[in-house]
Amino acid sequence: MTFWATFESIVNVGAIPYTIDVSKETLHLTLASVKEGVEKFKPRAILLVHLYGWACPETNEIRDYCREQNVILVEDCAQAIGDEINGESLLTNAHVATTSYYPAKVLGASGDAGGVFTTEQKIADTARILVNHGRTGHYDHGLIGWNSRLGAYEAAFMVEALKHLDARLDSRRNVCEQYRTKIKNPALKFLAPGAGVKENGYLSVALMTPETRPAFIEYLKKHEIGFGTVYPGAMSAQPGATSHLGGKISHGHAEWIAKSIINLPCFAYMKQEEIDYVIEKVNQFSA
Ligand SMILES: Cc1ncc(COP(=O)(O)O)c(C=O)c1O
Repeated sequence: MTFWATFESIVNVGAIPYTIDVSKETLHLTLASVKEGVEKFKPRAILLVHLYGWACPETNEIRDYCREQNVILVEDCAQAIGDEINGESLLTNAHVATTSYYPAKVLGASGDAGGVFTTEQKIADTARILVNHGRTGHYDHGLIGWNSRLGAYEAAFMVEALKHLDARLDSRRNVCEQYRTKIKNPALKFLAPGAGVKENGYLSVALMTPETRPAFIEYLKKHEIGFGTVYPGAMSAQPGATSHLGGKISHGHAEWIAKSIINLPCFAYMKQEEIDYVIEKVNQFSA
């Protein structure tokens, strides 16, 4: 359960992706599922995805386990900027993490941009070389890289955007919290991030049943309320995955979540009257 870029990045480095199903409770990988994957597939690296603006609740346990097993752990934090785990930024102890500054993200650029976070100097140095055509000097190329430089305009935009990050986080978290506490409709079960996790408010997450969701979506459209279904399918089922997938551990959870999840409007500086309108209309829906 993730965005296609997670899958794609594995193929792009010449590796073979194997997918592991997420938990129906936390909607993320668990230590047990990671162990099962390591035992079955013996991978050299694992890509752990933090979705919805939450952090995987078992992140620290998975990090320790990967270290013990000598398996490289890369974390997809595209949706997780501003997340905390046990009072600490999720990124602080990530060996290698990547993020996206796509404009719709919590910390967005004006166009496309992204970043790599690491606790290892050598990885930081290599990443800087790779994203700049493998350059080790102006016309010296030590590696085969590509162009993923952050342009000067985006860098300047990001410096300004960073100043607003705390206010944006507060505003988004407030929307998620209001939905969780004020929506009393039994057709929707609002989920909160796992124990020890502080969300960034990227998405509001509720689960319905696959039977009730279609009528609710029509109801939202009728009342001009935007919504999301992040994500509407498992990545292993995408047409582009077929010729690359090495194997998978599936319990049907990702498919079930895909048919059950609903994301209500959530964005920074959403007005209280807008939040109230969503709450009122959702409370009036009858399944
Ligand atoms: C979980 C996840 N991974 C990776 C990406 C890719 O980010 P970008 O499009 O900035 O490369 C996204 C962006 O939507 C994402 O949500």
